[in-house]
Amino acid sequence: MHKDEKLWDKVYDEFRGERSSVWRETATPFFTQKAEYLRHLGLRKILDAGCGDGRNILAFAKYGFNATGTDISGLALKKAEELCRNYPNAEFKKEPLEKPSFKRESFDVIVCDFVTAHLKEIELITNNFHKLLKKNGYLLIEFTSYKDPHCGKGKKIGEREFLQKGFYLRFYTINQIEKIMGKFRILCIDSISYTDPGHGTGYNRKKRHQHHSYFVFAQKN
Ligand SMILES: C[S@@+](CC[C@H](N)C(=O)[O-])C[C@H]1O[C@@H](n2cnc3c(N)ncnc32)[C@H](O)[C@@H]1O
Repeated sequence: MHKDEKLWDKVYDEFRGERSSVWRETATPFFTQKAEYLRHLGLRKILDAGCGDGRNILAFAKYGFNATGTDISGLALKKAEELCRNYPNAEFKKEPLEKPSFKRESFDVIVCDFVTAHLKEIELITNNFHKLLKKNGYLLIEFTSYKDPHCGKGKKIGEREFLQKGFYLRFYTINQIEKIMGKFRILCIDSISYTDPGHGTGYNRKKRHQHHSYFVFAQKN
């Protein structure tokens, strides 16, 4: 069992909001805006890495991708499966991003949304993404930025790294992202401020709050 599995299960277990996702009702525009282009290129196989309760994978399944969602929370995956029940082209697997079970070059596209903030071994994981992508495959990935209002809160455990209500959180600079993404060709980086609704009692943001993230569109060389 992954060491954070119970922590994340608790988030999904305790969520009582009216919307289907703990995180936000709709999929993230930066990702879905690229969907038609990716389909136009003839790409079909997509991995939603750390898919949570499924808002992004649902959107990609609706676009017709063969979509696989992975997460360490069994409860999140159960909710995601229910959300995608009308889309047999969406499937799910419980596994950590640190140790994926898929063969090399299994995917045309990988999306990873609101997960990197919680990943200590980010280089290992982006390296795994590089291995899992086919040649010229695309990575769409969000990095919560050092400009996010939550950067600096909680117990400091490293450079822009904190423990907040039991959750490990890190905040990225553009220089750091460019280094982490060194194996990829960065096509664009968007710097976006946005608000999120509260995420329930199991997570550390109960009320509507603001975020700042860098959204990266990159290609495997
Ligand atoms: C903030 S949620 C975002 C969920 C989803 N990507 C979204 O944007 O709606 C972070 C998700 O990452 C998952 N997660 C955290 N660490 C992980 C890891 N090491 N491997 C796989 N999933 C992980 C959590 O279980 C949780 O569902």
